[in-house]
Amino acid sequence: MAKIMAKKKILVTGGAGYIGSHACVELTQAGYEMVVVDNLSNSKTQSLVRVEQITGKPVTFYQADIRDKAALTDIFVKEAIDTVIHFAGLKAVGESCAKPQLYYHNNVYGTLVLTEVMAAAGVKQLVFSSSATVYGESTCPQYSEDFPLGPINPYGRSKTMIEDILRDLSRADAINQVQTPWKIALLRYFNPIGAHASGLIGEDPNGIPNNLMPYIAQVAVGKLKQVSVFGNDYPTPDGTGIRDYIHVVDLVKGHIKAIEILDSDAFAAGACKPYNLGTGRGYSVLEMIQAFERVTGRTVNYQIVGRRAGDLAECFANPDLAFKELGWKAEKNLDDMVADTWNWQSNNPQGYE
Ligand code: NAD
Ligand code: UFG
Repeated sequence: MAKIMAKKKILVTGGAGYIGSHACVELTQAGYEMVVVDNLSNSKTQSLVRVEQITGKPVTFYQADIRDKAALTDIFVKEAIDTVIHFAGLKAVGESCAKPQLYYHNNVYGTLVLTEVMAAAGVKQLVFSSSATVYGESTCPQYSEDFPLGPINPYGRSKTMIEDILRDLSRADAINQVQTPWKIALLRYFNPIGAHASGLIGEDPNGIPNNLMPYIAQVAVGKLKQVSVFGNDYPTPDGTGIRDYIHVVDLVKGHIKAIEILDSDAFAAGACKPYNLGTGRGYSVLEMIQAFERVTGRTVNYQIVGRRAGDLAECFANPDLAFKELGWKAEKNLDDMVADTWNWQSNNPQGYE
């Protein structure tokens, strides 16, 4: 007789945020139990209310900082957590240059506390939100996991440091011959955009957006005047920067594949492995603006300005490893990403306010 396996309980750090809230929907719909911890430094509880609206199920939420060891320990005592998906972190590149200590304290120290509490509770399966920003500059614009790392700002360095710490934890388990070693997936996201098809949850940046897609959406909805296109003299077909945009729902589905694999024998005990999550195809800034105008019927005013410091000409994923080992690949196309971004932005012009 087939054995019916109960679905696991997942702790989602940063679950009230943009990607975390989408993960909460997909996890619930996939039948997982879920607990969210978030300090709301860059999110609002309204996102979780909307998650409940979409799924029809209540969300267990703890407002706490992952650096608060006592609060985190308490959660692990109350909840029988099996696996952690770790989204909590600060992510603004410019702010990280101005306030590096804040970024290292929040992201690196926060992850140290989290892993200490996890190890003490005997929970050793972790899916970590890393970023394509960990890669160094390369002559090949299609990045594979074995490319050298070389982040160029404190935010990126905080992600690389965390990856190093997590690799060291795995190695230490082998040295110490522990019975239940860590199993860690480092998911390196390319450029997440889009929103849930319901239009109820989406990206709600504080103040003026730094990233291209939310900026375009706010111009289209009339909140901002025009997009500044940062440089049209790159060695790309139209001269503007090329990135690998990935639909946030595809991205979070990659996390579900990762927790399934971590929980199986297919992922070696003691392994800590990086996976690119991208589509494998890049679009230029002008192609993004044109796609937005075509799909939404809105005009997106723009002007060409100088390059932004630190930007690469072209960067897109080689997503083959995630397909081979996680059985994951992005399904949604550019028009889906634009239509869902617009559905969210036009229904929520002020975000969650
Ligand atoms: P987000 O800011 O919307 O979500 C992060 C959440 O973490 C927020 O709700 C915030 O309140 C919470 N948080 C931050 N520090 C915390 C702390 N110390 N304790 C508890 N909660 C804390 O960002 P997002 O876009 O959803 O990104 C999620 C993760 O993915 C981040 O780690 C980010 O660095 C990474 N990432 C994002 C992108 C992107 O373009 N969005 C790209 C690559 C990697
Ligand atoms: N761009 C503009 N105008 C804008 C904003 C962006 O022309 O107002 C251009 C950029 O120069 C770049 C492209 O649009 O060519 C994408 O820029 P984003 O800021 O949207 O994204 P980045 O690729 O620079 O970086 C993002 C996150 C990083 C993350 C990286 C990879 O901001 O934190 O994706 O995941 F590390």
